[in-house]
Amino acid sequence: MKIAVIGKGGREQALVETLAASPCKPQIFSFPGSDAICETATRIDAADFDGLMQWMVEQQVDLCVAGEESYLVKGEGLANRCAALGIPCWGPPKESAQLEASKEFAKNFLLRHGIPTGGAAAVAGYDEAIAAIGGKYPTVLKFDGLAAGKGVAVCPDAASAEEFLREVFIEKRFGEGRLLVEEFLTGPEISIFGAICDDKYLILCPARDYKRLMDGDEGPNTGGMGAVASRRLASPELLQTIEETIVAPTVRGLQADGLPYRGFLYFGLMLTPDGPKVIEYNCRFGDPECEAVMPLLRGDLASFCLAGAKGEFSPELISFDNGWSVCCILASAGYPASSHSGDVISGLDACGARVFHCGTKKTPEGWVTNGGRVLAIVAQGDTLEAARTAAHAEAARVDFAGSQRRSDIAYRNM
Ligand code: AMP
Ligand code: GLY
Repeated sequence: MKIAVIGKGGREQALVETLAASPCKPQIFSFPGSDAICETATRIDAADFDGLMQWMVEQQVDLCVAGEESYLVKGEGLANRCAALGIPCWGPPKESAQLEASKEFAKNFLLRHGIPTGGAAAVAGYDEAIAAIGGKYPTVLKFDGLAAGKGVAVCPDAASAEEFLREVFIEKRFGEGRLLVEEFLTGPEISIFGAICDDKYLILCPARDYKRLMDGDEGPNTGGMGAVASRRLASPELLQTIEETIVAPTVRGLQADGLPYRGFLYFGLMLTPDGPKVIEYNCRFGDPECEAVMPLLRGDLASFCLAGAKGEFSPELISFDNGWSVCCILASAGYPASSHSGDVISGLDACGARVFHCGTKKTPEGWVTNGGRVLAIVAQGDTLEAARTAAHAEAARVDFAGSQRRSDIAYRNM
């Protein structure tokens, strides 16, 4: 079996290694890939999206797995192009991926199908936004498009809201687009992953990620500074509520709206005093949650994804270990406002944990930083205590100039 995995970060390396370890022994190819991914996968020799599609046809790829979101909505959409060429794709078509690409589309979907979520108003300009906020703070402002995790601002007061609105509507930091003014919700967050195959679904191992840069959930939002995953992260009662009020109605909603879906669907939830509510959908696995969840996966992920991509839902092919997995991210100097490349990474040989590379490059001097989030250091254990102690201890062995890491991953909010 030949599998092409699309993306280049730590999530994709975790997917590549888990797919490669499948008992069906697939051959894994990667686009655009990274030096670290290409220690396991073969880099696809293609310059661009068109070249990728041509390569997959020529090589008679059996399955395309979408790691990151951008290709799902780029041009005609990755899954749409695969469908036209007869290549099974694990990842939804462009029209369904609007659940992630457009906050307004997702909000309308949630409201239309009676799925619990915060109230919201969509606005097109600065003054309209101020009117929609109506002097009620904190408020949550969400740019209506892909913004690499930076398009959401939780604003405690008018000054912070006005600053973000200036960025969106005057400086146009994210380009043209509308904005959602959303009700501020409170409670712990949890990431639920569904593997969706038409009208059927499997709920995978839940996880929690840590989005703020610094300990204590202080500092700016990032792509994620760490994650903890375990089947025991949510009680069976809570998981049942989430399934009944959120996952099942979402899958029914996709069917009712004629939105085809075969792939991972990520439900970003807040466990509010009124029950779990959806904060966002992502049409792919979470990053860094994927790096924490994949080491717990047992069975045959490659056969599971191939069957699912063909519409043959096969939940018996995978399961999850009952233990815990903790992922600590090392980020480069200046992240998230900027990032620093070329800093030599030390200690990787001494690190006894799984390491996934989010943004690195292999040079004659060794591995160097090459992006904002640099490495994911991941350890497992039978207990939360064992997993988090190991993850932090192993992460502490790895270093580079200006490295940033949280010390409360899997401690805070547990
Ligand atoms: P998102 O990109 O939509 O997941 O938002 C990023 C982060 O902003 C979330 O993980 C939450 O911590 C926070 N956030 C998003 N929506 C809300 C909301 N309605 N109320 C409070 N916090 C929110
Ligand atoms: N962990 C958040 C995300 O993948 O969007």
